[in-house]
Amino acid sequence: MLDESNLTLICENEKQIIGFTIGRVLMKQPASTPDNGVWMQAVYNKLLEGIAPDYTTFCEIYNLWIEPSYRRKAIASKLKQALESYMSEMWVNLIFTRTEKENTPVIKLNQKLKYTILKQNILLEHICFLKKL
Ligand SMILES: CC(C)(COP(=O)(O)OP(=O)(O)OC[C@H]1O[C@@H](n2cnc3c(N)ncnc32)[C@H](O)[C@@H]1OP(=O)(O)O)[C@@H](O)C(=O)NCCC(=O)NCCS
Repeated sequence: MLDESNLTLICENEKQIIGFTIGRVLMKQPASTPDNGVWMQAVYNKLLEGIAPDYTTFCEIYNLWIEPSYRRKAIASKLKQALESYMSEMWVNLIFTRTEKENTPVIKLNQKLKYTILKQNILLEHICFLKKL
C-alpha cells in the first residue's frame, strides 16, 4: 500500500493480517530550515548531521508489528528487507529507525539486519539505527 510518502507492507495468512511495517520517505534539511510540519524533522536533521548531506532522502521505518503467535519466524526480517528493497529501487538508500532502549527484540532484529547504532543520540529514551543500502 503506497500513499504520497508512506509505504505499508502487510503480511497475511488466510486473509488475517499477521504483520505489517510502515516506512515513510523524508529528506534531511539544513539545520536552519523551519519545521515544515513533519513531526521530528528538526531531530532528524540533527541526527543525520555529518552522516548524510542536506537534501538526502531517507526512509524512516516507524512501525513494525507481528502477531504474537507468528513471532520468531523471520516475518519481521522479511518485511523490513522487502521495504529496504523497495526503497533501494526508488533510489532511497538510507534507512533510519528507532526503538525504546528496553525493546530487546527490535534491537537484536536490527543488529541482525546490519543496522548500526547512531552514536549521536538526542532521543534519550530511544536507540536510533541507520542502514546504508
Ligand atoms: C520485534 C518484532 C517485530 C519481531 O518480529 P519477528 O517476526 O518475531 O522477528 P524475526 O523472527 O524476523 O526475528 C529476527 C531476529 O530478531 C531477533 N529477535 C526477534 N525477536 C526477539 C526476541 N523476542 N528476543 C530476542 N531476539 C529477538 C533475533 O535475533 C531474531 O533472529 P533468530 O530468530 O534467528 O534468533 C515482534 O516481536 C513484535 O511485533 N514486537 C512488538 C511490537 C514492537 O515492539 N514493534 C517495534 C516497535 S519499534
